[in-house]
Amino acid sequence: MTGRNLLTDQPALYEARFPDVERLAGRWAEDCLRRHGAGPRVLDMGCGTGRDAAHLSAAGRTVTGADRSETMLAHARSHHPGPTYLQADLHGFDFGRAAHDAVLCLDSALLYCHTNAQLDGFLASCRRTLTWGGLLVAELRNGAYFLGRTDLLDRPVETAFAWEGTEYRSTTTLSVDRTAQLLRRTRVWTTDDGARPATQHSAWRLLFPQELRHFLTAHGFDVLELHDGPGPRTEPPWREGQLPGTSADADRLHLVARLRTAWTPQRSRGQTCTTNVSPACADAASSPPRPGPPPWP
Ligand SMILES: C[S@@+](CC[C@H](N)C(=O)[O-])C[C@H]1O[C@@H](n2cnc3c(N)ncnc32)[C@H](O)[C@@H]1O
Repeated sequence: MTGRNLLTDQPALYEARFPDVERLAGRWAEDCLRRHGAGPRVLDMGCGTGRDAAHLSAAGRTVTGADRSETMLAHARSHHPGPTYLQADLHGFDFGRAAHDAVLCLDSALLYCHTNAQLDGFLASCRRTLTWGGLLVAELRNGAYFLGRTDLLDRPVETAFAWEGTEYRSTTTLSVDRTAQLLRRTRVWTTDDGARPATQHSAWRLLFPQELRHFLTAHGFDVLELHDGPGPRTEPPWREGQLPGTSADADRLHLVARLRTAWTPQRSRGQTCTTNVSPACADAASSPPRPGPPPWP
């Protein structure tokens, strides 16, 4: 079997493999939203099994969880109720103008935007769905971490875990595709239940902190935080009350950016904003006024 994803095709197995018993990711996201005064309407893009969306819903927010995978969405609806779950593509989605006060994109979901056009599509969609002053909160692998880290690449790493009486063994090899600027992963799964081995190919954009800043600025966001921890997937993990760090060197990046309340075209810094230079620029400049966020909490 090739091309399918053993974990995202089986959301219950995904949650067993990546447990988050303390709902650390959801709590960290809620902490970011509160610290920056986000309004209550939250969109979790690439919501997966719905754990984080449901945590925010239980915290009193009005949450939409969106994912491309119907399998994930079906699991989310039945196991993590509260949010509204909808199918949507990160590369371009439309929930209406100013429909949300914050967009979340956790556990590297953002890195499924492989090309610049896909990243532009994601950020333009975020801009459309966010109220002025709305937040984008993301947590993702740091492309810069792989610079010089050849020990992580081109050698198989084996892991094993048991779930519901079956032992799952995986052999994972990471490689860097420099031309496409992607981290590619080949993973071969074997189980002791007689199933044939399954080979799965995945890829993530290798996105660098300064590059991410540039994309965000071009799309009308101010970067409030961009750091390598503490966060929900750092070691040691984030704990309530801990403030963001200042470096962007380690494995994970944590981003909080705010959609500017008034569009300031790039020409104010000596560049020209024309329709054929930057779709981000053109779309934002022609956006009608939108309401500010309702108060929170
Ligand atoms: C690593 S999981 C993260 C799930 C969740 N955010 C979490 O933190 O547990 C990535 C999710 O992104 C979804 N995904 C991948 N490509 C996508 C796309 N183009 N549009 C929407 N969702 C996508 C996958 O289906 C999967 O549920």
